[in-house]
Amino acid sequence: MATGTLLPMTRIDNKPRQEATGAKSAVTVRGLVKHYGETKALDGVDLDVHEGTVLGVLGPNGAGKTTLVRVLSTLITPDAGQATVAGYDVLKQPRQLRRVIGLTGQYASVDEKLPGWENLYMIGRLLDLPRKDARRRADELLERFSLTEAAKRPASTYSGGMRRRLDLAASMIGQPAVLYLDEPTTGLDPRTRNEVWHEVKRMVADGATVLLTTQYMEEAEQLASELTVIDRGKVIASGRIDELKARVGGRTLRIRPVDPLELRPLAGMLDELGLTGLAASAVDTETGTVLVPILSDEQLTAVVGAVTARGITISSISTELPSLDEVFLSLTGHKASAPQDAAPARAYEEVSA
Ligand SMILES: Nc1ncnc2c1ncn2[C@@H]1O[C@H](COP(=O)(O)OP(=O)(O)O)[C@@H](O)[C@H]1O
Ligand SMILES: [Mg+2]
Repeated sequence: MATGTLLPMTRIDNKPRQEATGAKSAVTVRGLVKHYGETKALDGVDLDVHEGTVLGVLGPNGAGKTTLVRVLSTLITPDAGQATVAGYDVLKQPRQLRRVIGLTGQYASVDEKLPGWENLYMIGRLLDLPRKDARRRADELLERFSLTEAAKRPASTYSGGMRRRLDLAASMIGQPAVLYLDEPTTGLDPRTRNEVWHEVKRMVADGATVLLTTQYMEEAEQLASELTVIDRGKVIASGRIDELKARVGGRTLRIRPVDPLELRPLAGMLDELGLTGLAASAVDTETGTVLVPILSDEQLTAVVGAVTARGITISSISTELPSLDEVFLSLTGHKASAPQDAAPARAYEEVSA
């Protein structure tokens, strides 16, 4: 690499780093159990949502996500285990707890016949806000979610995206310490989904603490910094998304030579290196890069050293972590995007419960 530059190692996730380590736990769940007859909706779940972060609870249909949210909202009582939200115990302090949470479900909770403003005002009054404050809060939130112009129209005339925005606004009335978003984009078209993601990102930038359930890898990747993967009521993995990716092992080294004609010789040279455990490299002509799967820092150093020694001029080198889909496959032995078995209830498709 005579004149090339070695770029710093890149992180694949484009979110700002959220300081999870050492942050206080806003939601603490330990050994949570909820059975419905034979069905183990929750079968000993542990998780933490750290203040000011988004925890993604990822799992297929029927995994227990909504049951978890219901327990954490005090709507149902667990059979065993403990949970606290903002310091309040779900069993011992349900009334205090309800005052510090906001909830947005898969289905809109707004009254369709009422205008957007009335919906928000009414919820404010239900939360015991004085009239003046309820009015101010409704105004503020409509503005915040770009709904001011539609304030006086019945919610039934809103587009899907506007409805979800109104729903998010409604969940924010009480200035909740913790917000639960239960599959906020399931069933939405891609454009509306992006709208919702945009709003959630803004809320997080403003410091919201969010427990987000989702069936979508991409959604977790977009919005969450930490992940708890559940399947059949059990946690099968948890941690920071980049840690989960790193745990799976492989990284990919992407090398771009200045001269595209060097692509194949470069790939051939790397394959001839004979580094232990180094899988075959691949040429990506579209991006003009060679992809080399690497398992260790030693392999990384060796590959970079060999390229340099050969005098091939490189325009960029970066490492990429595996995709979340690859992580999921490695953790569960089945793909996230495809049904694990024939039972439709276990599919990662648009099957709403
Ligand atoms: N009220 C209920 N009565 C009986 N079974 C239930 C009830 N609520 C949920 N379940 C079952 O518990 C499991 C978990 O459901 P749920 O928490 O809704 O999953 P998810 O939200 O992840 O799709 C499913 O098998 C579901 O059928
Ligand atoms: Mg659900």
